[in-house]
Amino acid sequence: MNKLAPSILSANFAALGNDIETVLKGGADYIHVDVMDGTFVPNISLGQPIVKSIRKATDGFLDVHLMVEEPIRYIQEFADAGADLITIHVEASKDPEAALQAIEATGKKVGITLKPDTSIEAIVPYLSRVDLVLVMSVEPGFGGQKFIEASLDKVRKLVALRNDHQYHYEIEIDGGISLDNIEKVSEAGVDVFVAGSAIFGQADVYATTIAYKKKLKALDGA
Ligand code: DX5
Ligand code: ZN
Repeated sequence: MNKLAPSILSANFAALGNDIETVLKGGADYIHVDVMDGTFVPNISLGQPIVKSIRKATDGFLDVHLMVEEPIRYIQEFADAGADLITIHVEASKDPEAALQAIEATGKKVGITLKPDTSIEAIVPYLSRVDLVLVMSVEPGFGGQKFIEASLDKVRKLVALRNDHQYHYEIEIDGGISLDNIEKVSEAGVDVFVAGSAIFGQADVYATTIAYKKKLKALDGA
């Protein structure tokens, strides 16, 4: 089943609880939470206190994307704050294995991701142990950028590797997703679709969420 993960990076932070409730009512499957440290990426977004507040306000599945240097330092804190899935960048850790182990130890779901310029080989050693692989289809750091087409080759490789080795991860895509490209992205084999500006940037967030869910449902099994 295709899943929709609205990214709150483009939400109204002064009305975050309402925005999250709206997309969940519209059928959002995950709430994608972008954590940026100003070092790994040239932007700062939000941290553990916000995740903790979101957790109090909703039972929704919190998909936390850490764009943070040496994320191992913060994994326990994000787990305690209420993340359901924690995704780390392979480029951000000296020892990605240890960071993934630290997530596993919290009992939360384990995710790994890579930047557009990083080749899939960098994450291959970790694929057997992760629940989700996030393919970045824009340079991490900002919402509202243009989709990078070459990301679809990575998606296809991840589908093939999953088939060949019977791995269990979901494939998630993040950046530049819109109703215009969702079909070809789905055809490549993506399971979870992150969308920030395409959802929270619209005047009617509820109707937009429903439209995305409808499209994803139509593409299910297509
Ligand atoms: C970018 C973030 C994305 C971002 C996507 O670093 O990881 O989750 O919110 O935004 P859109 O959907 O607007 O490209
Ligand atoms: Zn993200």
